[in-house]
Amino acid sequence: MTGPLFTTVDVIRAKRDGLRLTDAQIDWVIDAYTRGVVAEEQMAALAMAIVLRGMDSAETARWTAAMINSGERLVLPVDRPTVDKHSTGGVGDKITLVLAPLIATCGAAVPQLSGRGLGHTGGTLDKLESIPGWRAELSTAEIIDQLARVGAVIAAAGKGLAPADRKLYALRDVTGTVESIPLIASSIMSKKIAAGPQSLVLDVKVGAGAFMKTVEQARELAATMLGIGDAHGVATTAVLTDMRTPLGLTAGNAVEVAESVDVLRGGGPADIVELTLALAREMLLLAGLPEVDPAAVLASGQAYETWCRMIRAQGGDPEAPLPTPEHVHAVTADRDGVLTGLDAYAVGVAAWRLGAGRSAPGESVQPAAGVRLLAKVGEPVSAGQPLAELHTDTPDAVPAALAAFTEGVLIADGESSPRAPSPLVLDVLRS
Ligand code: URA
Repeated sequence: MTGPLFTTVDVIRAKRDGLRLTDAQIDWVIDAYTRGVVAEEQMAALAMAIVLRGMDSAETARWTAAMINSGERLVLPVDRPTVDKHSTGGVGDKITLVLAPLIATCGAAVPQLSGRGLGHTGGTLDKLESIPGWRAELSTAEIIDQLARVGAVIAAAGKGLAPADRKLYALRDVTGTVESIPLIASSIMSKKIAAGPQSLVLDVKVGAGAFMKTVEQARELAATMLGIGDAHGVATTAVLTDMRTPLGLTAGNAVEVAESVDVLRGGGPADIVELTLALAREMLLLAGLPEVDPAAVLASGQAYETWCRMIRAQGGDPEAPLPTPEHVHAVTADRDGVLTGLDAYAVGVAAWRLGAGRSAPGESVQPAAGVRLLAKVGEPVSAGQPLAELHTDTPDAVPAALAAFTEGVLIADGESSPRAPSPLVLDVLRS
């Protein structure tokens, strides 16, 4: 029997010294890591070498292909176009909850398979699990059946989809190797492509609450992901959006579901409506349905009907009351002035510390935990006026959450004019 022509140490050394990895090296190292032949410490060393030395576009495409090939790639036999959306992770980002039923109502099918939230950005599955009875784990047959009947599925990605990424992402999370454009792009795209959609819209977040702090970095990540989509026959569009302040007025689990239902019923915050419609238009373009007006569909209330069917199909009761917190703490302004800053990262960390998110994989989250904002950036405020409510079942969590939240609040003198609101959509990149 012949073994590989190189060892794991050869591959690590090659990248450490700034060389390109060959296709054979990439295929072998990803497969061997998935099978447990490459040790965690070896993969950690290779990931760090990639963070420091980078990978070019051909290496990144091959790395992604190897991660897709580490598991199954779903085939979705649905008689309408399939289009998915992925967000690189924001605070208060409940757009998927509105977008999936909206796009299904417009005539395309949305197979949205997600992981759980880690850290300060919330997880879509954690939010939906605050709905009594709703279940995230579906078999492939159930996913396909629901897509055909309802047109939208939001469910847990099965263990068979890109298992190499599942292992590698957990390792990167604890070894300081998340922040690498080739590793982030290949991680996201391997999971999305393996889930089988024909096309994909990426919401690439920019700003304090996001992985990408500048528009330039976000553009580079977006271009890398577009290249990977192209290489795999998945038409991809990237929308760069502002994530300096939270989206909408809530960050957490049940609070975000309630706000999404408001939008589906024709109300809700203007920024959520604006971003949902901007992403919906891009998804409908890719799905070959440019003539459908998502604003009219949202206003008609039909997307809310689809939401109810989507929730019921997964055992949930869309009419049931959502969980409420045992403890609510009001945060007030400490002076008169104009609220000029509300940092997304600070609000995300506050919600996380209140129990809405987890610090380690497998931890449970509190469905009722989160932050409800009572003032928006640009509004005048007076000393003692409530700015937000902190929701939790564990009051001991309040001081740490309050400290995080307070760090993110900026109140300027009343005479100074508030910062002009910047546009939510910063750029659109199409392949
Ligand atoms: N989300 C992912 O799925 N992977 C990353 O590497 C970063 C964000």
